[in-house]
Amino acid sequence: MFTLSTLKNSLLALSCLPLISLPAIATSPPSPALTFLYTAYVECDGNLMRSEGPYGTRMTIPIVGGNFTGPHLSGTILNVGADWGVVDPQTKIFSADTRYNLRTNDGEGIFIRTSGPTSPSGPLHLRLIFETGSRKYYWLNHIIAIGTLTPVKLTATGSTLRIDAWNMASDWNSTSVIFD
Ligand SMILES: *[C@@H]1O[C@H](CO)[C@@H](O)[C@H](O)[C@H]1NC(C)=O
Ligand SMILES: *[C@@H]1O[C@H](CO)[C@@H](O)[C@H](O)[C@H]1NC(C)=O
Repeated sequence: MFTLSTLKNSLLALSCLPLISLPAIATSPPSPALTFLYTAYVECDGNLMRSEGPYGTRMTIPIVGGNFTGPHLSGTILNVGADWGVVDPQTKIFSADTRYNLRTNDGEGIFIRTSGPTSPSGPLHLRLIFETGSRKYYWLNHIIAIGTLTPVKLTATGSTLRIDAWNMASDWNSTSVIFD
């Protein structure tokens, strides 16, 4: 229930936020810096299914393996997951829509979701969302990550895709996440 004390608490919470002064003229603020997260090679099998549905042509492209290497996390991509990407019926632009699992070299499990369209210049632009219970990699739950995806190998039965990923440099990181 919304009470006066809820309101007071919300105002109190707001007042704890650092104040951002408004610029007198509309200048463009500095772009946020990115920090390199990893480069991944994702192995995909051929298109298992292709279905004309209400949102366009839905693909099912199994993700069967691969690896990722970065300054703070490296490991393998497990043979479980897929890209259920869709082709926009109006523009014919393909957008990825994946779910798969990573296992770090030190044995921790990470669930990842990625999505995003083919860009006008060719590579797909991705948003990457991580989920893990690992204390060591818990900071991944709190980062805002983006990536570019380019195919590096296409065969009759599958493909290898390269994903370069970054996250916002001011995100929570492995040294800034603190548990109670
Ligand atoms: C990752 O996979 C790529 C493509 O298969 C391969 O060239 C590369 O050597 C692998 N890297 C590691 C660290 O295993
Ligand atoms: C992690 O975040 C802390 C606190 O914001 C910062 O001082 C540190 O430089 C960051 N480390 C890395 C590796 O980005």
